[in-house]
Amino acid sequence: DGPAASGKGTLARRIAAHYGLPHLDTGLLYRGVAKIMLDRGFPLDNIAIAEVIAQNLDLADLDAEKLRTREVGEAASVVAAHGPVRQALLELQRAFSGQPGGAVLDGRDIGTVIAPEASAKLFVTASPEERARRRFRELVGRGEIGDDAAGYDAVLADIQRRDARDSGRADAPLLVAADAVVLDTTTLDIAAAFAAALAAVEARRG
Ligand code: CDP
Repeated sequence: DGPAASGKGTLARRIAAHYGLPHLDTGLLYRGVAKIMLDRGFPLDNIAIAEVIAQNLDLADLDAEKLRTREVGEAASVVAAHGPVRQALLELQRAFSGQPGGAVLDGRDIGTVIAPEASAKLFVTASPEERARRRFRELVGRGEIGDDAAGYDAVLADIQRRDARDSGRADAPLLVAADAVVLDTTTLDIAAAFAAALAAVEARRG
């Protein structure tokens, strides 16, 4: 678990590859619901429609490339605050996490709600400014935002708004699970963050 652009997705993919486990990026589920709402012109605050879309979401249809835009990320954090949407996506995530042999999931509420019995929990974080720098480079790389100070400021504002929404919602807010290892990646590159994450997982596996 961890806030936007903390590096949790990259770490989750590497940990899954290291142990040969299946990986689920649970943010894609909320992004998938949000994208359908946006494409069909439904208001994001229409909870009943968002719930039906979540109930009918097909994992096989989720196209990560199309879902990782700035607009979809923002909309995802709005639909993710609707309790019935979270409820509709709960069983799918529980089934994925409980599969024989194990799995790696990344999200906001994996250690607290989806898999409270998980053998290893990481809470990956970094300063808002560093997370904004990472997301800014990613969006500039994809041509989604201008490579200038105004672009960076807009991304930092996105991150701060999303942090507030994800932490402030009533249902499954972003929280550090009591038994999670907190990994602050502000000053770590990917290799160093992966080494620290792996050490934490190995310590938990005994
Ligand atoms: O990569 P980034 O952190 O920007 O986004 P993401 O992990 O794809 O998540 C997008 C949004 O979905 C988040 O801002 C959360 O509001 C929501 N989300 C959630 O509520 N619970 C999860 N397990 C995963 C994502």
